[in-house]
Amino acid sequence: MHVPVLLNEVLKYLDPQANQNFIDATVGDGGHAKAILEKTAPNGKLIAIDRDIDSISRAKINLEEFGNRVVFANDSFGNILKIVEESGIGEIKGVVIDFGMSTGQLENSGKGFSFQKDEILDMRYDIRTPLTAEDILNDYGEAELFRIFKEFGEEPKARMVARAVAQARDRGRIKTTKELVAIIEKVIRRRGKIHPATKIFQALRIEVNGELAEIEKALADIPKILSGGGRAAFISFHSLEDRLVKNWSKDLSKENIIKILNKKPVVASAEEIKINPKSRSAKLRVIEKL
Ligand SMILES: C[S@@+](CC[C@H](N)C(=O)[O-])C[C@H]1O[C@@H](n2cnc3c(N)ncnc32)[C@H](O)[C@@H]1O
Repeated sequence: MHVPVLLNEVLKYLDPQANQNFIDATVGDGGHAKAILEKTAPNGKLIAIDRDIDSISRAKINLEEFGNRVVFANDSFGNILKIVEESGIGEIKGVVIDFGMSTGQLENSGKGFSFQKDEILDMRYDIRTPLTAEDILNDYGEAELFRIFKEFGEEPKARMVARAVAQARDRGRIKTTKELVAIIEKVIRRRGKIHPATKIFQALRIEVNGELAEIEKALADIPKILSGGGRAAFISFHSLEDRLVKNWSKDLSKENIIKILNKKPVVASAEEIKINPKSRSAKLRVIEKL
C-alpha cells in the first residue's frame, strides 16, 4: 500500500471543511483523497483523477465507504478543466497533485518502472497512449536519446549512455529493464546510495508519458477551476517538476491571479523520512486563488 507523502502538511494548507468540494488529480491508492473526504463529510464531493486504470481500481476499493461522494476519472490531469466541467461539480475549494509513481506501480505494475526488477520496458501510466520505453530506446536516434537523458534525466553521462544504447541495439532489440540496466552500468558507476540507472529511468518515464507537458496543461487550467480563496497543493519529487510549479506560481502571483502560501517548499520531517524514505525528495508548494 502506498503511504501518502506530506499528508498532515497537505491537510493543514488545504484545510478541508464539511461539505466542500475538492480534486485529487493523482488519486493513486487514495491516501490523500481519503483524508480529505473524512474532513468534507457529509456531502463534500471529490473528483478523483488518475491516468492509470489500475490506480483507479485500487482507489475505488480504498474509497468505497464514501459512495457517490467520489467521482472517478481515468484521464490525465492535463484535461482537468474538461473533467471538472463534465462532472458538473462547482465551487472547487482545493486541488492536490502528487506527481510521480505510487509504490504499487513501482513494485507490482510489471511495466518496467523499477530498475530493481526484470520487466518489459513499457512505463506507460495509461496503456491507451501509443509510446513505450522500448519504442524510445530502439527507435529514437542517438542524438534524440542524448537530449531526453540530458533534459529529463539531468544525467551528466547522457551522451555516453545514448552511445551505449545505440551500440547495444545494433546487436538486437533492447526489451527488458535488466538489459537496459546492464547497458547503463557499463557506463555509469554507482555513486553512493543512488543507483546508476535512476536518472535514465526517470528520463524515459517523463518522455513516455509526456509528463512535463501534462503538468503545464494542468497549471494553465488550475486558476480557472478553483473558486476564490481555493488552494492548490503540489508535491514534486524532482527539480524539473518543482521548477515548473515554482516559475508558474511566481508569474501568476505577479499578475495578482494567485498568492504563494509558502515561499520555500515544505519538506518532510525527519520523522516522516524515517517511516517513509520516499518522502525524502518530496517538496510541497501551495498557492491560493485570489
Ligand atoms: C504518487 S502517486 C499518488 C498517490 C496518492 N496521492 C495516494 O495518497 O495514494 C501518483 C499517481 O499519479 C498518477 N499520474 C501520473 N501522471 C498523471 C497524469 N498526467 N494525470 C493523472 N494521473 C497521473 C499515477 O498513475 C499515480 O497513480
